[in-house]
Amino acid sequence: MKPRDPKSIQNLFESISHKYDFLNDLFSFGLHRLWKKNLLSLLEPSSGENWIDLCCGTGDLSLALAKLVDPSGSVLGVDFSNSQIVQARKRSLANSSLAISWLKEDVLNTGLPSGSFDGVVMAYGLRNLANPEAGLKEIHRLLKPGAQAGILDFNHPIEGSKTARFQKFYLRSVVVPIASLIGLREEYAYLEESLKNFPEGSSQKEMAMKLGFDKARYKLIAGGQMGILLLTA
Ligand SMILES: C[S@@+](CC[C@H](N)C(=O)[O-])C[C@H]1O[C@@H](n2cnc3c(N)ncnc32)[C@H](O)[C@@H]1O
Repeated sequence: MKPRDPKSIQNLFESISHKYDFLNDLFSFGLHRLWKKNLLSLLEPSSGENWIDLCCGTGDLSLALAKLVDPSGSVLGVDFSNSQIVQARKRSLANSSLAISWLKEDVLNTGLPSGSFDGVVMAYGLRNLANPEAGLKEIHRLLKPGAQAGILDFNHPIEGSKTARFQKFYLRSVVVPIASLIGLREEYAYLEESLKNFPEGSSQKEMAMKLGFDKARYKLIAGGQMGILLLTA
């Protein structure tokens, strides 16, 4: 499994899509739902706005967002894994009154017009991109001037800190052994690998400001295990 190699990442998420939601709930004790709620409450999307969820996976965040921008707003979920998009589409069929659509595409190459969204969210996507800086640049391009983005992901704690030690322990001694039981050892061992070159929160903020964002804030959550990067274009 090559970190940040788009083909390997795409294959990984194609292969785990059927178990993805179950394992997300299991490994986070269901807390990823709370962290996503936290992300949305910081962004305060309003009715009538048009938002985009990049790296939407099976679409849980897109759906929660669509409920907030309802009735006249819309959400577009984008992911390059076909099977993740299939799961997302199934999820939205059960909520057919919501204005939500799906696009199977690389988020670094959507071809969508510049300045077309009132807001952007991305959960657990930035760390997986071939180039996170290009991801932030694309987010800036997609946003209307003054609009907001919220990016939720693992925090990359300072090496040797208590938070870093706990993160390593949890990923190596809990996540990987459990994933191995269902034949997904390599897929979940990739989590720790993907964090190695992922910039720390302060570097993410600096990167965003250099790319032209007007404001950047990084908020630690889950005892420092996760972080939310909040950006204003
Ligand atoms: C860890 S999952 C997160 C899914 C969802 N946002 C969530 O929070 O549960 C990462 C998702 O990003 C997608 N992804 C990774 N790189 C991508 C890219 N360059 N373009 C589009 N999707 C990408 C994968 O297919 C996968 O569904």
